[in-house]
Amino acid sequence: MKKQPILVTCGLPYTNGPCHIGHLRTYVPADFYVRYLRRTGEDVVFICGSDNHGTPIVVSAEEAKISPREMSERYHAHFAETFRRMLVNFDHFGMTDDPTNHARTQKIVRRLIENGHVYSRVIQQSYCPQCQRFLPDRYVEGLCPHCGTPARGDECDQGCGRHLEPGEIREPVCMVCKTKAELRDQEHYFFRLSNFQDFLLGYLGGLQGTLNARNYALGWVREGLRDWCITRTLDWGVRFPGRDDLVVYVWVDAPIGYISFTEEWANKTGNDWQDLWCGENRVTHFIGGDIIYHHCIFWPALLRGAGYGTPHAIVASGMVKVDDHKFSKSRGYVVWTNEDYLDRGLPADYLRYYLLSYTNHTKDLNFSWKVFSERINNELVNTLGNFVYRSLYFAHREWGGVPGIPVRPEILGRIQEALTSVNMAVHQYDFKAAVDEMMALAAYGNTYIQTNAPWKLVKTDRDAACQVVKDCLVLVNALALLFEPVLPEKSREIWAMVGNTEKIEGITLDRAAQDLPARPLPAPRPIFQKLEESFIREMDDILQKRVKEAGERSKVTETVSIEEFSRLDIRTGRVISAEPVPKSSKLLKLMVDIGTGTRQVVAGIAPFYRPEELVGKNVVIVVNLQPARIFGIESRGMILAAGDSASLLSPSKDVPPGTKIR
Ligand code: 2FM
Ligand code: ZN
Repeated sequence: MKKQPILVTCGLPYTNGPCHIGHLRTYVPADFYVRYLRRTGEDVVFICGSDNHGTPIVVSAEEAKISPREMSERYHAHFAETFRRMLVNFDHFGMTDDPTNHARTQKIVRRLIENGHVYSRVIQQSYCPQCQRFLPDRYVEGLCPHCGTPARGDECDQGCGRHLEPGEIREPVCMVCKTKAELRDQEHYFFRLSNFQDFLLGYLGGLQGTLNARNYALGWVREGLRDWCITRTLDWGVRFPGRDDLVVYVWVDAPIGYISFTEEWANKTGNDWQDLWCGENRVTHFIGGDIIYHHCIFWPALLRGAGYGTPHAIVASGMVKVDDHKFSKSRGYVVWTNEDYLDRGLPADYLRYYLLSYTNHTKDLNFSWKVFSERINNELVNTLGNFVYRSLYFAHREWGGVPGIPVRPEILGRIQEALTSVNMAVHQYDFKAAVDEMMALAAYGNTYIQTNAPWKLVKTDRDAACQVVKDCLVLVNALALLFEPVLPEKSREIWAMVGNTEKIEGITLDRAAQDLPARPLPAPRPIFQKLEESFIREMDDILQKRVKEAGERSKVTETVSIEEFSRLDIRTGRVISAEPVPKSSKLLKLMVDIGTGTRQVVAGIAPFYRPEELVGKNVVIVVNLQPARIFGIESRGMILAAGDSASLLSPSKDVPPGTKIR
């Protein structure tokens, strides 16, 4: 019987911002996995799409003053194009706002209702009295009820990572106007997740994929599951059946997108989507480590409740760091896929190699331009590139092609060893180990050519040199095939340079451990270009500048509460006298009338004001600042001034000294 195809999916990117290196942490390994499986002869369907609903999109669209659909279309096209440029080749890339997904979601929700898994309940929801609206998910900010970290409405994204239910967040504040939110009653619909505890324990026990996904999820299920609110008060999204005022929570219709996109792919290719989803399927979801809860708990329970097959494997990646800092767009620790990488002419293959080989799939991956260039220059350029080029160059120069003598059996044995190790590693989702094995084979080749030095040998023993070169060419051919899932573009070039005329796409890995027939070779050219230090320094400067600017911006956008502000006692004052501070070119000593008495203040304004022009001037002064000694003189307050030229602030109408600023 024909084996069921493997369906591989990737977490769907929200259509509210450009693609960055954090996204690629999931998509590149998934694409590698798919390419590898295909090279072993597996039938694989690779599906993804964009996530268009939920508050992430509505909030961004509101800010950009465009409709959520327009926003989604813009970024949908952006992601599709970026994935193409990164050689991440989906068979279909759909949109969750397209009709197939609306229909499939409603069908599933109706089925859940029929099966008794959904009930309604009145709950207290955050409501903004200023904006006069309920505040779903990202419209509300506050503190996580579990760990106390600042969190957004549906997720403790900076702290413990837990999913938060509507109304749970502590000290809720409206994200738009920063007003303290109230709690108001509203009817919502709940999925009886608590009924799925036993099912999930069993399911997760047999779940394939990475252990982080299974173990985190098992821990959460053992802590106990609460029913899950699956509706939101929003206009944008998939309507909850029978309610015009509610849509389903985005975490319901987004994963259903995996099914809808498979349907769309099946319709356009004449397949049946149910063959991939039914019963004991081979559905494999690649996701980021931050969405394990949604994929290992909500999603299988939903599918089970609606009578669908549950996913076979969940492969969860570790997170990304930039320069050893937690990835953060707002703090500037971000590398944009297009702007910082592809648009500068850097090959997709280099970044693919780095992402796959830096660390194990479940660990955090750090990106720094310095380490990136070291890895590329040492491994791709000096090891793989050097070996390939020297082998091809020498074969072309001395024999004009692949010599017609048999390869040494030990070479085929070494290749076979690599094939076995790579295969084992890929099936354990240990992509780094797989790529390291490939690079070890390249290093073996490099040492082989270096120690046998055919360029010397040819002068004394041409036959022996010919043997070395033949062995190297067989290794080069194997490396082209093996590395294709990592370096699709460069491998294709190597494949052609070693004299293959068939397309590399359809060739399976067993061809790697076979001898090559005699054939002519084209003149080779170096395949990997070294990354220059000056370029890397330039890229690093861009990153550092971005971090610095983000820091400056965040000072402006950081908020203080009215209580915090009111702790400052700021008043008007009138300068009574001013004199220079001895031995200081910058400081003046001022006596200021603050209504209730006179204050001595030292201010760094000497470069901008002569003492005599200050006398009689109305100023603004913080009067409850902790006293300090400056150049041995006590200063009890701070005169407020703007900018680098210390322009003194002054009330625009005359008010008596000591008038409070508020
Ligand atoms: O976390 C995210 O970026 C979501 N857009 C992922 C959705 S994956 C799936 F469930 F659809
Ligand atoms: Zn938390």
